[in-house]
Amino acid sequence: MAKTVADGFFADPRLKEAKKLIQEALKEHQGQITCVKPADPELKESYDQLLKKMAEFRGGALFYNYLGTGIGNGPFVELADGSVKYDFITGIGVHYMGHSHPGVIDAQINGAISNTVMNGHLQQNTDSAKLVEIFSKEACKNGAEVKNVFLTTSGAMANENAFKMIFQKRYPAARFFSFEKCFAGRTLGMAWVTDKAAYRQGLPKTIDVDYIPFYCEADHAGSIKLAVNAMKRSMTRFPGQHAGFIMELIQGENGSWVGNTEYFEALIKVCQENNISVLVDEVQSFARTRDLFSFQYFKLDKHVDIVTVGKNSQVCATLFKDDHKPKPGLMSQTFTGSSSQIAAANFMINEMVTGGYLGENGKIEKLHSHFKGHLERLEKKYPEKVSGPFGIGAMVAMTVFGGDEAKAKSFTMKLFENGVLSFMAGTGPTRVRFLMPIMATNNNHINEVCEIIEKTLNEMT
Ligand SMILES: Cc1ncc(COP(=O)(O)O)c(C=O)c1O
Repeated sequence: MAKTVADGFFADPRLKEAKKLIQEALKEHQGQITCVKPADPELKESYDQLLKKMAEFRGGALFYNYLGTGIGNGPFVELADGSVKYDFITGIGVHYMGHSHPGVIDAQINGAISNTVMNGHLQQNTDSAKLVEIFSKEACKNGAEVKNVFLTTSGAMANENAFKMIFQKRYPAARFFSFEKCFAGRTLGMAWVTDKAAYRQGLPKTIDVDYIPFYCEADHAGSIKLAVNAMKRSMTRFPGQHAGFIMELIQGENGSWVGNTEYFEALIKVCQENNISVLVDEVQSFARTRDLFSFQYFKLDKHVDIVTVGKNSQVCATLFKDDHKPKPGLMSQTFTGSSSQIAAANFMINEMVTGGYLGENGKIEKLHSHFKGHLERLEKKYPEKVSGPFGIGAMVAMTVFGGDEAKAKSFTMKLFENGVLSFMAGTGPTRVRFLMPIMATNNNHINEVCEIIEKTLNEMT
């Protein structure tokens, strides 16, 4: 078979040797990062200077005093003050294989030594073709028809692209349904879909959205009725004006609130009877349940028109059915992803699918129940301080001090100082949540993280 120059280049023994040396060096150095470590006092001054500069040039301080050095080991990450922390928030759900994973680094090297930094509209490399194929095949394996895949650079852009396809198909309908307290991103469009007034303060209105109350487990039947009625009321108020319904099946930014199949099916039925497209936003939940896609977990395969993914997928994407294909000119992007990013996405998604993470007995379920067991123990021991746990799979959350926002913030800050990265989510109640690097975490890591959580709870009055 004819070979390209690239086939020869990527198989060149010198590259193999160079990569072997890099991996050896990585192993040796990251082998020193094996546990939580406090900051080195000798680095304090330079670190404070760095943080100050960062705040000055970016126009505001960072949430955490976090500047990484560029190396870590699984769930551990080294900061430039010399400290080592457990990363149980992973850039709000991005570094699923933890830090400095040898396989991810190898994939990134392949991307880095390929011809261009970025891939985009006129020029995509073969890795992009592999990536759209794996997304498409995995999404459609149980009967879903979202076989077309448009790659993009952020979750918000994936949603923007989905909205454009839906509006174009449903023209002139121009309203959308969304869930109360949902998060869809912060572009000018998505800021009006995300249900948080502060995130759109001062912005001109772009999209009219009608918010539907999210599923409430404590009132299963009642919450279905409430939501269906809310949809119907809006449709009576604005007849024929709804183009789509964006559904965040597990509300991540709101604190890991989990929906329900029967609830979604009831709403989807109304959508289908009224020519309203069903858009599932999996930017946060992708690869975090026992199924790769959360619409598969909720068995909504036959009902989804468009699905968006991000974060864990490394490269974001909009997957859509043939009948939502955009007309020429609607979609195109200079950047759909960097070469390294696309190579890493291929590696990581292949691992997720083949590495024993998914399924009822997969690693995601096992780590979830281990973590859950610890948080249940803490809830029993400190009922006045902790409630929960909440969430599903790799999305775990708890409430501290009755969900008070200020206390949740001071808890996450203290937890950070004690060596664990978490984040707050939602309001009324505010939860503390964890998006752990499933592909680099084991039960011992969770045990240690929970010890630090307990210590932090004890330090809070
Ligand atoms: C459900 C959901 N949709 C969209 C987004 C936006 O993604 P990005 O921040 O990559 O634009 C997020 C980000 O947290 C999200 O959780």
